[in-house]
Amino acid sequence: MTAHAPVLLGEAVRELNVKPDGIYLDGTCGLGGHSAAIAERLRGGKLISIDRDAAALETAAVNLERYGDAVTLVHGNFGNIAEILDELGIDAVDGMLYDLGVSSPQLDEPGRGFSYASDSAVDMRMDQSQPYSAYNVINETPEERLREILRDYGQERYAGRIARAVERRRRERPVATTGELAQIVRGAMPPAGLRERQNPLRRTFMAIRIAVNDELGELERMLGAAPGRLKTGGRVCVISFHSLEDRMVKKAFLSGERGCTCPREFPVCTCGFKRTLNVITKRAIVPGDAEIAANPRARSAKLRVAEKVSEQ
Ligand SMILES: C[S@@+](CC[C@H](N)C(=O)[O-])C[C@H]1O[C@@H](n2cnc3c(N)ncnc32)[C@H](O)[C@@H]1O
Repeated sequence: MTAHAPVLLGEAVRELNVKPDGIYLDGTCGLGGHSAAIAERLRGGKLISIDRDAAALETAAVNLERYGDAVTLVHGNFGNIAEILDELGIDAVDGMLYDLGVSSPQLDEPGRGFSYASDSAVDMRMDQSQPYSAYNVINETPEERLREILRDYGQERYAGRIARAVERRRRERPVATTGELAQIVRGAMPPAGLRERQNPLRRTFMAIRIAVNDELGELERMLGAAPGRLKTGGRVCVISFHSLEDRMVKKAFLSGERGCTCPREFPVCTCGFKRTLNVITKRAIVPGDAEIAANPRARSAKLRVAEKVSEQ
């Protein structure tokens, strides 16, 4: 398995304000890079490290072994943090970290079908026990919805052409491999699209991956549940790599900070929204030039942080 360089490691762990005896949650354990930095600061505290990828957790178990029972690994989805914490008998934690997206081994292992760099079955499931994969998204999604996925998740200018080409091809036989998908996408693009500096396949593969793993849906569920599972003064830190994700995080934090949305002239609150968060990062924290030079994947990273306030 290839290594994964944790992004914004120093910044994220600093913003978590780790207390040695606190309880922390890493919702995207991966190979355990951020988890190790949190566990390193614990003395008597606990860390719950979640990932939906069982293979990643196997490596994390080795990488985090030295922290013994201070670290609990959970195979699960961060969209279900409430259920996961209930099962562990934990009401609220002192801090949470989410480092969204895919890990380097997920992208680099040909068998996972995430990448156009090698030819393998189209799969892209982070959780390999999930019943539907990229095969289902590519071959069974109605053409119009496929176009929206490519346009909205991939910001793909040629979404209509690509969706049409996939539809034409799958009427003959299903698209089964990343190589076939790559060929269809290239064939659907005009010469100008193929000449772009960024690989013309990148946006389509990313969009399908986001759909397969319902990445925005899980983020929405996590953002809804997180404030209720933080202790007062506890922080939620989210590192995102996609503008849609960053927008969702920013919006959720701001609406937690705003609380009640009733017009001022209302004598009593009828909306029921409570102020739960204080936004710490008025502007997202981004990696410095040295980190980007050492790890180009960090280029689009944005870290946002909010702190739980006592309910008012
Ligand atoms: C960018 S990597 C995290 C790397 C990690 N911070 C490290 O330092 O090794 C993202 C990880 O989050 C996991 N993941 C993504 N969405 C998830 C979700 N909804 N629930 C649980 N894990 C998720 C992926 O499987 C992947 O292993």
